[in-house]
Parts: sequence; C-alpha cells; structure tokens
Amino acid sequence: MSDFLRTAAMYQPGSMTMPAEFYLAPAIFAEEIERIGLRRWHCVGRSERIAKPGDFFLRNVAFEPLIIVRDRNGQARAHFNVCRHRGTQICEKGSGHFSETIQCPYHAWTYTIDGRLIGAPHMQDVAGFSKADHGLHQAQIAEWDGFLFVNLDPAAPPFHEAFAPVLDRFARFDLSRLKIARRVSYQIESNWKLVFQNYCECLHCPTIHPELSCKLPYQSGANDLVEGPFLGGYMEITAGNESVTMSGRPAARTIADLSAEDRRRAYYYTLMPNLMLSIHPDYVNYYTVWPVSPERTVVESEWLFHPDAFGDPGFNPDDAVAMWDVTNRQDWHITEQSLAGIKSRRYRPGPYSSRESVPAAWDRAYLDLMGR
Ligand code: FES
Ligand SMILES: [Fe+2]
Repeated sequence: MSDFLRTAAMYQPGSMTMPAEFYLAPAIFAEEIERIGLRRWHCVGRSERIAKPGDFFLRNVAFEPLIIVRDRNGQARAHFNVCRHRGTQICEKGSGHFSETIQCPYHAWTYTIDGRLIGAPHMQDVAGFSKADHGLHQAQIAEWDGFLFVNLDPAAPPFHEAFAPVLDRFARFDLSRLKIARRVSYQIESNWKLVFQNYCECLHCPTIHPELSCKLPYQSGANDLVEGPFLGGYMEITAGNESVTMSGRPAARTIADLSAEDRRRAYYYTLMPNLMLSIHPDYVNYYTVWPVSPERTVVESEWLFHPDAFGDPGFNPDDAVAMWDVTNRQDWHITEQSLAGIKSRRYRPGPYSSRESVPAAWDRAYLDLMGR
C-alpha cells in the first residue's frame, strides 16, 4: 500500500492561481495543442467499445480525426481518418463495425482493418504508384486497465514509460474487467484547466455540492500522488453510508475483492493530460476532458460496474449516475462562473489555501509540460 499525505500537509506556501492569459489567450491554447495535445498520451475511452475485431469508434484528439478500431489479430489501432487519395474523411458514423475492409466513400480506395491499402481504382495506370506506400497513417495506441490511450507523436515515449508511476497502482481494483453502464457528454463554457483544478479540490464541496457533502467529508482527503502529472488520493466515505450514491447505499456489488479500508474510501485521481478517474467501492466513473477552444470544453463521462453486477437484483446504477450527474453540473456551472470572473480586467492571480494543495500541484505539472 502506498503512503498518503494529508492534503494540507502537501501545501507549498505562496501557491497562486495562474495569470488570465492561460485561460483566455488563443496563442496559449495553440501552444497547448502543440505541447500537450499532439505529444501526450490521451485516454480515448474504454477497450470495451472495440471488444470485437472490426468494432470502431471515431475520436478527435487535438483536432486530429482518428478511427479507433480493433484489427483481426485483436490489436487496437488508431488510424487517421484521412484518405491517402485526396484526404477525405473516410468514416462519418461515430461508431460501428467494419465487416471486411474500410472503404473511402469518395473514390472507393479500400483499406484493410489494420490500415493497408488494398484497392485503388485506376491507380495501376499511374507510374510509380505503390499501394504499399499508401496505408492509413497511424497514431500510437495502448491499452491499460481497460482504457485505450492514444499518442499522436510517433516519437513519444511508449505508454508504459509515460505512465510508469501509475501502471500497477490500481491493479487491486481490477479495472480492466469493468463494464460501461452509462455515458454522458457535457458541453462546458469554460477552460479545460478550470475543470481539472476544480476536480482536484473539495474545499468547494460544502458550498457547491449539498448532495455530495453528506457522503464525503471535505476535510478527509489524503494523497499518495502529490507531485507531477499524476495526482490524487482518497476521501473517507461518511460513516452510515456504504458508497457515494444518492441513497448512500451501494449501487452494485463491489468492483473487486476489496480490503475493509478500500470499502470505506473513494479515490480521485487526475492523470495528465485528459483523464479524471473516480474509484468507489461499487463503481468507477471517469471523465475524458477535451478542450475545444480557450472558453469551451467537452467532457465525456462513463460509469463502470462489475461485469456480473448487471444481472444482480439490487443493481441500481442510477443511484451512482444521479449522484455525479447532479454534482458534475454543479461543478461545470461554477467553472463557467470562474472563467467569467477571470475575463475581467481586474482579475489577478489569487492565493491558494492549504486545502488547495492538489490544484496548485496540478498547475505546476501543467506549467512544466508547457515549458514554463
Ligand atoms: S479521397 Fe478517398 S478515395 Fe478519393
Ligand atoms: Fe466539485
């Protein structure tokens, strides 16, 4: 078991919020795409979405259109959704199944599911043309604990190096076998970093989250990841409750064979740059965060449960979904209010308190990625 540090104990005196330009300036947003979007490992969803060979879904990472698909050998692939003929986006439907091949609807260039070009009408007349040179471009892809990660940079370090500090950290929760019960997509009129900072602290819980606050005492936080791109730890579930659900009762059987300690805790982690992972005794909910512009963010969230829970008589995923759907909307609203204030000419960086040591650490990790 890892060591935990109380939230206030990891506070660095003098920690301040970031200047307004980080939330508003198009130039900084463009730099984020270059330094983070195009270079870092992004979570794109769960492996379950491409359970069988041929299953696919589309995902934009840093505005690059990708087809995430499982090939005939069971290998996940991330093809650029860009035809090698005249560039057309090949695939329009958000998700589905390729039975044999991937075909561009424009002039019928045809690719295997693993991305090789096998059909290109009339190209045999073109001197020097070789199908072997015109396979779909691919991004790096990795699977870990049931999550799919993509990296657009061919020179990026492999996933197992980039995520080395957390690779085994969640093993006891057996996350890879969990199954999706619900997905919700949220549109937020705020900057993506405000979404992360907000997730990183519970100082706001008593004021913003009346429903959540009676399940999680906001001062109970302690963290085992305290510096760098991966941050977070646990909160104690308030006595008398067995989970963080609307009713306080479990929504499902426990996600794994958990220790007594883990049954009383909820774990919250941010994994830079785009994953927020919430682990409860009976369910996991996670968020992928997608910057659209300095002032707009899409967050996609899914709720995951033990695969055998779905047939249980007491299975009540709505109890967990409602808890966070209500809480999420409160969070998104306050991050929108936050950005609205930061847009004022009078905004200046303000002091973080000792209960905001995690967002301060998140900012340091972000500034590090940005080379500041
Ligand atoms: S652009 Fe795809 S086949 Fe012509
Ligand atoms: Fe919150």
